[in-house]
Amino acid sequence: MDNNRILVTGGTGYIGSHTVVELQKKGYEVIIVDNLSNSDKSVLDRIEKISGVRPGFLEIDLADEKAVLDLVKNKLADVDKVIHFAAYKAVEESVREPLKYYRNNFYSLINLLTAFSGRKVKFVFSSSCTVYGEPDELPVSEQAPVKKATSPYGNTKQVAEEILEETAAAKDNYRIISLRYFNPVGAHSSAMIGELPKGVPQNLVPFITQSAIGKRGEITVFGNDYDTPDGSCIRDFIHVVDLAKAHVAAIERLEVATTKYEVFNAGTGTGFSVLQLLKAFEEATGVKPQYKIGGRRAGDIIKVWGNVSKAEQELNWKTELSIEEMMRSAWEWEKYIKENGIS
Ligand code: NAD
Ligand code: WQD
Repeated sequence: MDNNRILVTGGTGYIGSHTVVELQKKGYEVIIVDNLSNSDKSVLDRIEKISGVRPGFLEIDLADEKAVLDLVKNKLADVDKVIHFAAYKAVEESVREPLKYYRNNFYSLINLLTAFSGRKVKFVFSSSCTVYGEPDELPVSEQAPVKKATSPYGNTKQVAEEILEETAAAKDNYRIISLRYFNPVGAHSSAMIGELPKGVPQNLVPFITQSAIGKRGEITVFGNDYDTPDGSCIRDFIHVVDLAKAHVAAIERLEVATTKYEVFNAGTGTGFSVLQLLKAFEEATGVKPQYKIGGRRAGDIIKVWGNVSKAEQELNWKTELSIEEMMRSAWEWEKYIKENGIS
């Protein structure tokens, strides 16, 4: 590598913070850029406690073109590696506020790509299995067709992938990987970083842990009458630390890759149902989740899990952490939040 400095946008967020720790372990000097719209500066203290190294931090709104051009030119003049996590990600809010999502997610991406134009750059982008919609074949591979997005959030991922592919094809200075994440869950083994949703969690695992600790009432399982073995929906849950390591692997591949743009699934390759996950939570923690069966949630995918052989072969990366470890670490993090008054 030319030097070991790397820009991590959204690095105080959930997946970003875990990735920062894994990058630091590998000797990278991390500079985080985040506007703290969905995270807190105290994450920096806890990253430092875990790794012994405080990452660089700049509080900047990436949707602000002038600020980004200035940043990359003046403060990141020698940086040639970027992992771009920063985005809004709440599906339901994106339906109510599409322009908020298009503005933030597209402006940020375009500003960054513009700021790095003319400089050889390795760029990793946070995409999502949401681009597959309800897949025709399972496990779903990267060759599967992208289905029309059912939310503005999902559309930002699809169009961002197109922007990246077209930009890499047109200009020779970009080497880009999009990682299509399946369902990241769990937390760091130290329990000092994890997912911290604002308000009522929309995602399953934070709801389970908040319900178990008494912050929420019982969980509603959204439907048990689907065409699946136990009637509940199926997802490919991936431990956030395994996912963080996929980013390190992607950066390492970009150091040697000649391909301009590539897409990889980042999942475990195995599906678990909502009801199986509740059982796994109980087995891993000894705490019995309180739940009731409710109606279906509009727009839910019935079943999705990934074919991850391309990532395993070409990124030389493989998930290692079990569903029990995902549940146990998520629970340890929820308890840490409570004990330390984190909000
Ligand atoms: P997160 O909200 O915890 O982290 C995103 C970070 O980006 C936050 O710290 C936020 O403050 C920051 N940010 C947002 N807009 C910004 C802006 N304009 N300028 C600077 N910083 C900004 O989310 P996460 O779960 O860590 O997700 C990271 C990425 O992965 C996102 O792009 C998300 O869409 C994608 N993704 C997440 C999931 C998931 O289930 N968590 C699944 C697939 C893809
Ligand atoms: C998982 C399953 C729910 C909460 C969302 C986004 C997607 C992606 C990941 C970023 C579903 C069920 C949930 C609850 C429940 N993000 N559930 N009770 O739906 O796979 O995807 O997050 O790209 O874009 O749409 O994840 O955690 O919301 O739901 O029964 O209280 O849990 O119905 O079957 P999902 P999720």
